[in-house]
Amino acid sequence: MISNNILSFAKSVLCEVLQPGSICVDATVGNGYDTVFLSDQAGSTGRVFGFDIQEEAVKQTEQRLNEECQPENWTIFHSGHEKMLELVPAEFHGRVNVVMFNLGFLPGSDKTIITKSETTLEAINASLEILAKGGILCIAIYAGHPGGDEEDIAVREYCNALDYNAFRVIQSEMINKPGYPIRMLFVTKL
Ligand SMILES: C[S@@+](CC[C@H](N)C(=O)[O-])C[C@H]1O[C@@H](n2cnc3c(N)ncnc32)[C@H](O)[C@@H]1O
Repeated sequence: MISNNILSFAKSVLCEVLQPGSICVDATVGNGYDTVFLSDQAGSTGRVFGFDIQEEAVKQTEQRLNEECQPENWTIFHSGHEKMLELVPAEFHGRVNVVMFNLGFLPGSDKTIITKSETTLEAINASLEILAKGGILCIAIYAGHPGGDEEDIAVREYCNALDYNAFRVIQSEMINKPGYPIRMLFVTKL
């Protein structure tokens, strides 16, 4: 069932463009679930680049990828995603099929280590540069935690202002979820 969880829904959308050989970026690897998904979809001929500022997240992701026997198509950087243009090799710029952001804090970890709007916007800008035509940038946004509302507004304002002739932006939201909403933005590069 794809629609009981907004991330599963997002992955079903991304499967429209993912195929063996795809080039992917997981901008916030966290516990590694999204990285495993991307590695699996990209297969042994594809590449996945992951980022996280927490060493614990990088180790956890690498362990999960190894345990789940994913193809060795991945490189995880212990670095902020704002370094994306520098760290994703130039040969892949303009060839990236999917970039995923899962904002906020790492579940089960220190809730004060969060993504922040300034670096998130820098990384979103870099993502739009390295995406291939037809590629999708997918951003899961969580409001409600300290810093979350500001980031939610900043990211949506940024995407709202993208040139319609160059990008198309679709927003999905689980509107009957109690408490704070989870929003998903899909930005397609034309
Ligand atoms: C919601 S979690 C990601 C969940 C993950 N995608 C998964 O499948 O488990 C957000 C992650 O973003 C990381 N983060 C915060 N600031 C970052 C930055 N500037 N660059 C990269 N990662 C960052 C946090 O350390 C945290 O692990």
